[in-house]
Amino acid sequence: MAKIKVELKDRSYDIIVGCDNLSELGELVRSEKWGRDVFIITDPLVNDLYGDLVRKGFKTKPKTLEVPRGERFKNLRVAEKLYDGLARYGAHRDSLIISLGGGVIGDLAGFVAATYMRGIDYIQVPTTLLSQVDASIGGKTGVNHPKCKNMIGAFYQPKAVFIDVSLIATLPARELRTGLAEVVKYGVIEDADFFKFLEANAHHLNTKAFENEDTKRAALKLWQTIVSESAKIKAKVVEKDEREAGLRMILNFGHTVGHAIESLTRYRAYNHGEAVSIGMVAAARIASRLRLLETDVVDRLKALLDKLGLPTEIDSLPVDKIVAALSIDKKVIGGKVNFVLPEKLAKVVIKDDVSLSVVKQALNEMGGQ
Ligand SMILES: NC(=O)c1ccc[n+]([C@@H]2O[C@H](COP(=O)([O-])OP(=O)(O)OC[C@H]3O[C@@H](n4cnc5c(N)ncnc54)[C@H](O)[C@@H]3O)[C@@H](O)[C@H]2O)c1
Repeated sequence: MAKIKVELKDRSYDIIVGCDNLSELGELVRSEKWGRDVFIITDPLVNDLYGDLVRKGFKTKPKTLEVPRGERFKNLRVAEKLYDGLARYGAHRDSLIISLGGGVIGDLAGFVAATYMRGIDYIQVPTTLLSQVDASIGGKTGVNHPKCKNMIGAFYQPKAVFIDVSLIATLPARELRTGLAEVVKYGVIEDADFFKFLEANAHHLNTKAFENEDTKRAALKLWQTIVSESAKIKAKVVEKDEREAGLRMILNFGHTVGHAIESLTRYRAYNHGEAVSIGMVAAARIASRLRLLETDVVDRLKALLDKLGLPTEIDSLPVDKIVAALSIDKKVIGGKVNFVLPEKLAKVVIKDDVSLSVVKQALNEMGGQ
């Protein structure tokens, strides 16, 4: 088991990374004396898979509040239903929320924790790869508004992030891949050795190994390393810039073009990691065109993402429309589009003066029309 500290003065907390440790959560909550009473917020699938395992660890059974599955339920109406549920069960300022699910549940439950009675304690128990390596760490909570994703929210740190890596064994292959895009991102922005480690192990990073008990054990060991290393990198960035005033923006590597593609395709054709994968290749190609980055790094990045089964081409999306979508992206600050561009592995710069013609050339190279 690994324990990674997120050092944020009086808001510091541990990220606990283990394997098959979910039933130990109740004991941790008890020993830390967190919460006079405990409420689990989850979705029906995750509740069926893992709810009992969590509840079993508590002497007094926590009440469970379910939210339907899917991004479209990450909204204020659903948050209000959760407030109703908490109030009905008599949740107080000293109650504890356990968020048990992927990034949607984490963002929503974290937001409810941040706002119910002006803020109550919560623990993130992320169950997807994406939420284990990214969404559960750093205290960004929130819900969507019809006009913009994640528009309403708060920075509100959890008491702990409790990770059981074995939970990812039940993820569909596509959900595992979406998390892998963020894992690759960490290698590019912060850690060249980690990038090399991913290159060396890429052929094991899929759901096949979970099909048989022997290969599953070996695979989960590898995943434990991957989740811990990713969590360390995210924690380090969050520590230096808790409220995304500067450095934390490097976590948006691949997200500028990625968000444009997601919104252009109305969040249907690509999931987040797939769009980020295309966005990372686009950013690397832009960096190479600006002579900031050697082409062999672009090739290595593309080869790694290809091996992991993530998209790296644009498949006939109209380049003009992607560029138009860029300018309505929320990263437009003072009319400028921010790009996080690699200069080499583990070194990125933020540029707000990339000419749109360079962006178009890079997208054309990727099969855009
Ligand atoms: N707060 C942040 O810093 C941050 C960062 C990145 C992403 N996000 C948010 O995260 C969300 C995406 O999260 P996600 O990719 O985890 O998707 P998700 O939460 O929608 O989960 C995907 C699906 O997987 C299912 N699932 C969850 N755990 C499972 C398991 N162990 N086995 C089988 N199925 C399981 C869920 O029921 C869900 O249908 C977005 O809303 C995004 O905005 C937040």
